[in-house]
Amino acid sequence: MDAFEYKQNKLFCDDVPLSDVAEDFGTPCYVYSKNALQNNALKYVDSFKGTNNLACFSVKSLSNISVLKILKDIGCGFDVVSGGEMYRALSVGADPKTIIFSGVGKSSDEIEQGILNGILSFNVESVSELYRIEAIAQQLKMVAPVSIRFNPDIDSGGHDYITTGRKGDKFGISSVEDILSLSKYIFSSPHTHMIGLACHIGSQITNLDSFKETAQKTFELADQISEIGISLDFLDLGGGLGVSYDSNNHPNPEELITCLNDEFKGRRERLILEPGRSISANAGVLLTKVEYVKDEFLIVDAAMNDLLRPSLYEARHEIWNIHENDNGHDKKNMNVVGPICESSDFLGKNIKINAKEDDILAVRTAGAYGFVMSSNYNSRPRACEVLVDADKALLIRKRESLDDILKMELSVND
Ligand code: LLP
Repeated sequence: MDAFEYKQNKLFCDDVPLSDVAEDFGTPCYVYSKNALQNNALKYVDSFKGTNNLACFSVKSLSNISVLKILKDIGCGFDVVSGGEMYRALSVGADPKTIIFSGVGKSSDEIEQGILNGILSFNVESVSELYRIEAIAQQLKMVAPVSIRFNPDIDSGGHDYITTGRKGDKFGISSVEDILSLSKYIFSSPHTHMIGLACHIGSQITNLDSFKETAQKTFELADQISEIGISLDFLDLGGGLGVSYDSNNHPNPEELITCLNDEFKGRRERLILEPGRSISANAGVLLTKVEYVKDEFLIVDAAMNDLLRPSLYEARHEIWNIHENDNGHDKKNMNVVGPICESSDFLGKNIKINAKEDDILAVRTAGAYGFVMSSNYNSRPRACEVLVDADKALLIRKRESLDDILKMELSVND
């Protein structure tokens, strides 16, 4: 069931009318359904019950600490890609042994932070990174758990900017020879322990065949690594499952896990996944108010600094008026644009909608890669975030003030 549905022409998030949220907290405003976040995450967690498999929520998709706490409480681990994300996960009480640290450019400080906190694994993305992790672990007189992230040369389709598993993409290590010699090196080092093998081929993947192919390539490589004498604890197949941004159906997490369980039959290693979007995307909307109507433009108070996806990837989000005021007859094709001084500042083009000044619109499927990618461009304070828990709407991030924007800056002229 969708968390955002019309009841008597008014759009609700669970039991809360979105008009109340806009009135109480203002716009632009991100609204998340606790129930949807939990239900989406439980599709992974419940399918893993009775096994040691682990779903590590990808913090980059939606990183508010209230959201992370909800997901931790129902049994998710975390996939992090920076010291900041690790700090967030640890701050909500995540067990470090459920934290995986990926990313091509981990700094020495971040590596030290991960080793000292005892995280489950560093997903190592280059030979140089491994040497650095080893040196830091040696200085600390500790052993760092590592997995090699390999690049399987699989094109998962979708937008070029979010495909990560092709040769030539910056992620992981492509050469099997390099991976095998690095594995031998890790095996022989007293300061590194090879715990897994990892792979993440992209995002918004709508075809399970890419996951099957990834699993098969991972097994092949894991078997070669085991011949060295290394017994891997887990195989991490990354995140990437897509969601529907329109009415088309795509495979859901249960289908993905059924398919992977089939592939994993007979394997010793446990399965780790790093889902982001498939947990957070349809759990959130961005509320925005129509400021002006001009020709075919609805000029709203949210902009590309609040939701970058349409500008950056030409992503299409449905946009609904929170008061459904007709049966579709008066809807026109409109471009929903923000106040930023760029023609790339749009939230949606050719959106069929009926709206007038002061109406509130909901940009749908905005829970993932929405607020987290926002900025202060044009010196615009970032939106607030609200969590709906059944019939309650709770502020989980304050709206930034103009003083917040200036507070990090130092005036040299005083
Ligand atoms: N694991 C790793 C190593 C990743 O790089 C990512 C996403 C994930 C897991 C989670 O992928 P998901 O399940 O959310 O697809 N900003 C883009 C998406 C970038 C994804 C980056 N990596 C967008 O708005 O579409």
